[in-house]
Amino acid sequence: MDATTATCPVTQGRDDRKSGKLADANVRPAPGSRVVGAFGPAREILRSPKVRQAGASAEQVDLSNPGEISFFFLDGDLHRKRRAAVAGLFAPKTIVTRHHAVMHRTMDSIVAKLQRLGSAPLDELSWQMAVDVAADIVGLTESDSNENLARRVKAVLDSSMERKPGRINEIIFNIKRLVRVARLWKHDLAPAIEARRKEPRDDVISFLVKENFSKKGIIMECMSYGGAGMMTTREFIVMCAWHLFEKPELQQRFLTGDEDDQFAILEEILRLEPVASMLHRRAAENTEDMAEGEVLCVSIRDANTDEAITGPCPYELDPDRAKRMKVVGPYLSFGDGPHRCPGAQVALHETRIFLDRMFRLPGIRLVAEPDITWNPYIQGYELRGAVVACDPA
Ligand code: HEM
Repeated sequence: MDATTATCPVTQGRDDRKSGKLADANVRPAPGSRVVGAFGPAREILRSPKVRQAGASAEQVDLSNPGEISFFFLDGDLHRKRRAAVAGLFAPKTIVTRHHAVMHRTMDSIVAKLQRLGSAPLDELSWQMAVDVAADIVGLTESDSNENLARRVKAVLDSSMERKPGRINEIIFNIKRLVRVARLWKHDLAPAIEARRKEPRDDVISFLVKENFSKKGIIMECMSYGGAGMMTTREFIVMCAWHLFEKPELQQRFLTGDEDDQFAILEEILRLEPVASMLHRRAAENTEDMAEGEVLCVSIRDANTDEAITGPCPYELDPDRAKRMKVVGPYLSFGDGPHRCPGAQVALHETRIFLDRMFRLPGIRLVAEPDITWNPYIQGYELRGAVVACDPA
């Protein structure tokens, strides 16, 4: 029996997912969409040039003014060009020569803070890492302090959880959000733009300034990096830490393994606990498998646990799985095709560095487990309330 067809009756049925039940109960594909959960067809849809971005309010986006919309919503040539312009910021060489320094600097301050205070909320620490790294890529470098920038970005992005049904609530919500965006503009975005006008650098804002993007366009693009790069990585770091705290053998393997093995562990956790649960696409023309106008919902959770590609026991955390099955480690957790996450490697590196340094701290322990809740606006899990503690320096 070869490795791909082996069965494991001993562990059949083990489910290592922490977000599985919550997702099963809450995932809501876009109304009227056709759910595709088999890995092969799902990947094909994401790779197809005959589909367009859908879901995440894509239908309400006015495509007639591409300078005012995030490239997340663009397709075709325009999308390719916008991505190509910032591709260097995510290149493997840039990660090592530039982003590693940011990641280690942030970890220096996180470690100092944790050793000084004795304990701290884990999602606040992971948020600081996610914000610092993405802010450097975006070019948000003129703020009064990294902590204040993190607080202001959080106020804008986390506001979706405060949304309540009803017209009055919607008006209040919109006013509050406008005030928060205005604060971010004044303290963070405007000074960054001003600095780039004088002296362009290698970051997203420099590109937007060079291309004469409007104020609205710059805010939209920067906020989409915040949502795509900061909120996702915050959850991913806490999820990985939770698994590693709970499984001493896995933690030991993480701390003694080389970088590749550490990535294999993180990617396998992400396969089981994808931060994004679904991706939507609209068919732009009739094909053998799609009718023009049809909306398809690619279920990342289903595709990532499709036995045809995972091998047996798909719900088991097995860091050797991807190598054995000759598949890319995160499966579809970073998407695929033209919109595949450009920040995938950045996210893996910052998570690896965060966990590697945190787990080596003397006395490191999880003193409160996270509560896991569902954010219906982003259709993903959120982990809050985890507290880590360590010995003083
Ligand atoms: C664990 C962390 C992350 C996860 C799980 C994640 C997941 C994803 C997924 C699934 C997509 C595809 C969306 C689609 O196909 O419609 C995506 C796109 C994107 N991600 Fe990430 N991401 C992460 C981190 C990051 C980071 C760190 C950055 C940047 C600093 C980033 C920036 C983006 C951008 C700009 C897009 C839009 C790409 C496009 O539409 O062409 N992401 N991400």
